Amino acid sequence: MTTPTQPQRPEPNLPYDGLNLAAPKSERYAELRSRAAALLEGEDDWLANLGNVAAEIFAWFPTLNWAGFYLMRGGELVLGPFQGRPACVRIAVGRGVCGAAVSTQASQLVHDVNDFPGHIACDTRSRSELVVPVMIGGEVVAVLDLDSAQVSNFDGDDQRGMELLVAELTPLIDWRRACQS
Ligand code: SME
Repeated sequence: MTTPTQPQRPEPNLPYDGLNLAAPKSERYAELRSRAAALLEGEDDWLANLGNVAAEIFAWFPTLNWAGFYLMRGGELVLGPFQGRPACVRIAVGRGVCGAAVSTQASQLVHDVNDFPGHIACDTRSRSELVVPVMIGGEVVAVLDLDSAQVSNFDGDDQRGMELLVAELTPLIDWRRACQS
């Protein structure tokens, strides 16, 4: 008798509309920015907007296994809209890669998470990470967190590309509401 196999979700092999993996990174980031801006146009609901931005980034970079936001709420980071496997809900300032982005108010580009003391392994597949703080008036209100299962998935171009995306999106999101605990 054969053992019944678990039902499997079919692999979504269809390429995302408009995605050209062969295009130079600068073009892919420019296209990502305009797609994200188009998604937010005319909508002021922070939850819908951050959800759509996380989904857009995740679809636009297939090497990611996690993409999403942590929001500063009551002095700590709390999990916000994301794509990927379930993640830790609360991160203290100064802890892990996300907490370091808050305490230093600077992006964290981690080529190999094993070399980052205190890295928090929410998804054990993650091998490299990029975290960009969202700043308003000199304060961090959130971070954009990106994980990849590949070592050294991110480089300086990715850091600048994501920082530019965050800078363009920051005025379009209602962070006051998003950060209410
Ligand atoms: N690795 C992060 C934790 C968040 S997960 O990657 C989604 C960190 O070290 O802060």
